[in-house]
Amino acid sequence: MKQQLENIRLQALADLDAADTPAALEELRVKLLGKKGDLTAILKQMGKLSPEERPVMGQIANAVRADIEAKLEERKTAIHAAALEAKLASEALDVTIAGESYTIGHQHPMNQVLQEIKDIFVGMGYKIVDGPEIELASYNFTRLNIEEGHPSRDRSDTFYFNDDDSVLLRTQTSPMQIRAMEISDPPICILAPGRVFRKDEADATHSPMFHQIEGLVVGDNITMGDLKGALVNLMKRIYGQDAIMRFRPHHFPFTEPSCEMDMQCHKCHGTGEVDGQVCSTCHGEGWIELLGAGMVHPVVLKNCGIDPEKYSGFAFGMGLERMAMGRLRINDLRLIFDNDVRFLNQF
Ligand code: DAH
Repeated sequence: MKQQLENIRLQALADLDAADTPAALEELRVKLLGKKGDLTAILKQMGKLSPEERPVMGQIANAVRADIEAKLEERKTAIHAAALEAKLASEALDVTIAGESYTIGHQHPMNQVLQEIKDIFVGMGYKIVDGPEIELASYNFTRLNIEEGHPSRDRSDTFYFNDDDSVLLRTQTSPMQIRAMEISDPPICILAPGRVFRKDEADATHSPMFHQIEGLVVGDNITMGDLKGALVNLMKRIYGQDAIMRFRPHHFPFTEPSCEMDMQCHKCHGTGEVDGQVCSTCHGEGWIELLGAGMVHPVVLKNCGIDPEKYSGFAFGMGLERMAMGRLRINDLRLIFDNDVRFLNQF
């Protein structure tokens, strides 16, 4: 029996050493120490021993049980530690591996220029306002002194919504002049950027949708000098102190007198030619038209309930894409709308 106990001890310690999962350990514990286990089976035979032998064997059996229990505890701790080690190794973060990089976009170049222009006008005391793109013909044309039958009202130029031509996609931001004068008394000093729509084919300088920035100042003794001062200040801030520009007389139904402002072509520097070819940016003109402007027509003031004997005002409407093309030296308007990231990333 002594030998049997010794065999159990040796086998048990070897088996326990080989067990490497909690489940295998548990299985061994039952097999060795359980009610139907090997050790219990031996102890059941103790009754057959002589009274002298019994305590001796009992002592040996207890020692074997203690050894097995100690080994079980030792393996349990070791297996737990190994499992933890493996888990840590598999979940470890290697902070030296290069991360995934995301490309962060930025403001569209045209909006960058719009922001610059807005900042400059806000600095001059203008309030930025917004208005509807779907507009009434009375605001877009009639109250701006544009008579029935004027070519700009033509169905071939304007997107109308209904048969009586009373509702349209605004063709200019000038209706914002009416809206501004309608809701407040002078002094008025507003800037109204926004989208406008015309039935134009797209080419290097045209698009059926483009952006304008309307300005309107109405108050006491507002003169053409104030208009020129505001616009020259804008152009010098945007294009530099030595920017070359000119005012030309023009006609608009809603201003009197009226003018247009051009700036020297940034591509051909006013010569109208590039490498012996007609400059494609200004079509050989040497100048790029940026805006229309003038003194608000007395009829328009009256149409908005403002007494032209008491107040005067100036207005202007500039093409934002044109301004951006000059500012960022972009040669083709379509690039602004294509949204090709190879183009956009340059700004
Ligand atoms: N609305 C005109 C256009 O689209 C531009 C313009 C001219 C606006 C004269 C004005 C102005 O405010 O006074 O061609």
